[in-house]
Amino acid sequence: MSLAYCFTAYGGPEVQRFLDVTVPAPARGEVLVRVHAAGVNPVDWKVRAGMHRSFLPLVLPAVLGREVAGVVVRTGPGVDDLAVGDRVFGATVGGSGGYAELALMPAARTARVPAGVPFVEAAALPIAAGTAHGSLAGLAVAPGDTVLVLGAGGGVGTMATQLAAIGGATVVGTASAGKRVFVESLGATAVAHDEDDVEARLRELLPDGPDAVLDLVGGDALLGAASLLGDRTRVLGVTGEPLATRFGVGRLVNVGDSATLSALAGLVGAGRLDPRVHRVFPFVESGNALALVESGHVAGKVVIDVAGDR
Ligand SMILES: NC(=O)c1ccc[n+]([C@@H]2O[C@H](COP(=O)([O-])OP(=O)(O)OC[C@H]3O[C@@H](n4cnc5c(N)ncnc54)[C@H](OP(=O)(O)O)[C@@H]3O)[C@@H](O)[C@H]2O)c1
Repeated sequence: MSLAYCFTAYGGPEVQRFLDVTVPAPARGEVLVRVHAAGVNPVDWKVRAGMHRSFLPLVLPAVLGREVAGVVVRTGPGVDDLAVGDRVFGATVGGSGGYAELALMPAARTARVPAGVPFVEAAALPIAAGTAHGSLAGLAVAPGDTVLVLGAGGGVGTMATQLAAIGGATVVGTASAGKRVFVESLGATAVAHDEDDVEARLRELLPDGPDAVLDLVGGDALLGAASLLGDRTRVLGVTGEPLATRFGVGRLVNVGDSATLSALAGLVGAGRLDPRVHRVFPFVESGNALALVESGHVAGKVVIDVAGDR
């Protein structure tokens, strides 16, 4: 049995509770992992709220969370490149959540944690850094490009801003005024969506318009930048809102495969990419961790210390 933080029905935070759940033996291509840390993402509460049920059908109660770091305790058939005892991180198998003592992971979306990288940092990478990497690849961001990141202070934005800057792009990022210093520390010029005249400031900073726009906010954020978009501007939105399609949405590329995860963890191990873990909650406070992310105003990442390593 595994103690896990679950949701018992589709709904709000009131459907969340700890339960003892049975975790099946790993199937072909899967590994069973003793979880040390679990990343927290907006998708977790969106799944709980039923927003993804049409394409992610779940048997309830279901365990919350989609990404973990931990130690392999059992390998399924056909897994040759991972072994019991390996320190790994990555996505969980659909239906096997991450806020739990044990989780199933697909070996193809699991990578080793480099020496010196703590579990809480590795657990922060799969969704945020994977999506950031996949978005920049989908936008074909190249050295010398100018990139506008809408929502630069959140989990994905924090990674996208750093990765774009590492790749030689010039980055302008929007965030609330309270995150101005934080966003600039990531390598971007910050524009405060709640303080500056966003359109005027962006026009000043990007007189020829950006080469690429990554929309991590949705709603009116993209409309606010719409007048800057030229024919050559490449736009990608990941919030699932239809608005971005008006501007030609790109496609995410290579999100979360083992090779990409290894490369991202390598950057962390080399001190070039900082997962920017904003808060670490103990396992018993999983509900508070998710509530903070559900507020929509996190700076960087939130992680649950499942094994009490800290
Ligand atoms: N399709 C995919 O594969 C995929 C993968 C990952 C994430 N996503 C989606 O992408 C979105 C972002 O994810 P995340 O993990 O980065 O979320 P997050 O950590 O909650 O960050 C969201 C950020 O948006 C900022 N924000 C809110 N209103 C804003 C505005 N008007 N202008 C600029 N920034 C604004 C918030 O900062 P302030 O408080 O400073 O405003 C917050 O830092 C979510 O909708 C998530 O579900 C999709």
